[in-house]
Amino acid sequence: MRRTEALRDLVRETELSPRQLIQPLFVVPGEGVREPVPSMPGVERYSINEAVERAGEIRESGVPAVLLFGVPAEKDEAGSGAYDDEGIVQMAVRALKKAHPDLLVITDVCLCEYTSHGHCGFVRDGEVDNDITIELIAKTAVSHAEAGADVVAPSDMMDGRIAAVRSQLDEEGHANVPIIAYAAKYASAFYGPFREAADSAPEFGDRRGYQMDPANALEAVREARLDLEEGADVVMVKPATPYLDVVRRVKDELGVPVAAYHVSGEYAALKAAAENGWLDERRAVLETLTSIRRAGADMIITYFAEAAAGWLR
Ligand code: PBG
Repeated sequence: MRRTEALRDLVRETELSPRQLIQPLFVVPGEGVREPVPSMPGVERYSINEAVERAGEIRESGVPAVLLFGVPAEKDEAGSGAYDDEGIVQMAVRALKKAHPDLLVITDVCLCEYTSHGHCGFVRDGEVDNDITIELIAKTAVSHAEAGADVVAPSDMMDGRIAAVRSQLDEEGHANVPIIAYAAKYASAFYGPFREAADSAPEFGDRRGYQMDPANALEAVREARLDLEEGADVVMVKPATPYLDVVRRVKDELGVPVAAYHVSGEYAALKAAAENGWLDERRAVLETLTSIRRAGADMIITYFAEAAAGWLR
């Protein structure tokens, strides 16, 4: 059954389709801005008008959704740009939904791009304060929904934030906005290039006080279960390829929609090898994305989304 393409097609167990892919987009202040991210060849940061144009091309490619990250002009201790109704993401959401009503706009909900210290929450006495942070995270999610976001995706990894986001959204009239929870987000070296793109590296310490220990898998299932109980609609495992076993466990034990985030470092590694002629980019990327689907992910967030959609046509 492997001899010809038609035979292989008959027995293929895993389907990879553009409809399962989500393209991250970085939005920066200004007009007419397109800035390459050096550690992520092929990825750029866009001002809102450019992001609107790119989103049209992404939609054209067959990718149904974008995940938005904002890089604000100014940062402060409390990350107030994150929940400003005139903030970078809020303005980008309005512009994107106006230009492309059928494009799914998902927003990353976190404080790290907006805090002067680069941590994902409010810092008190040198440590992130969980309970103050979840209030600010909920406020951020509501302001994204108000701007027209279709889905919100909290990525801060504080305890209790999904419950806080769900109840605030419901109270403010956004009961229809679903939540993709970054449920099992590991304290990973693979976020390096993202922190350059989002300008969000912590100024002191690291994120191991709130992101997960790479050695733990049972804990990932527990985290995902808690997020579901608190009201998450989709649970995410992040990064993807070093954690395929975790994707499988979460899918098998909980049976709910699972997202996997193929992160910046996974992208950068493949891109670097491809640029050196050490890997066939197209084959390596499609094989990687297929493996993430095979592990049980329903949807994949990847910087290769648009390119992969083009290859899958
Ligand atoms: C924000 C956030 C991060 C990523 C997604 N949301 C960075 C981090 O936690 O440091 C990483 C994405 C990537 O590496 O592609 N908290």
